[in-house]
Amino acid sequence: MDKKLVRPFLQWPGGKGRLISQLAPHLPHEVIKSKFTYIEPFVGGGAVLFWLLNTFPNIRSVVINDINEDLINVYRVVATLPEELIRVLEVFQGNTTA
Ligand SMILES: C[S@@+](CC[C@H](N)C(=O)[O-])C[C@H]1O[C@@H](n2cnc3c(N)ncnc32)[C@H](O)[C@@H]1O
Repeated sequence: MDKKLVRPFLQWPGGKGRLISQLAPHLPHEVIKSKFTYIEPFVGGGAVLFWLLNTFPNIRSVVINDINEDLINVYRVVATLPEELIRVLEVFQGNTTA
């Protein structure tokens, strides 16, 4: 079965994507074997979040937060209304009409 990758969908200032190789050795050992919940208080573009989701299938759940309400709304829409979002984006892109 193909493993589906989840990737950041936003370019966000200050993203930690380039630091992951330096952060990885400092993760608690439990993330490798145990089920765990990842809590990300400053999610931004989610570089660390998506890397963890791709790397540790034993993540049980994630909790994300950001002070930027618009950003959190984007995550909510992506998570709960993906088909509607795609339809709206296609209209903006000019592929279809409303
Ligand atoms: C550089 S981004 C985080 C990068 C991200 N964790 C990653 O994996 O690449 C920093 C985020 O922290 C958020 N932020 C700044 N101050 C905050 C606060 N007091 N509470 C919650 N989020 C905050 C910003 O809105 C921004 O989206």
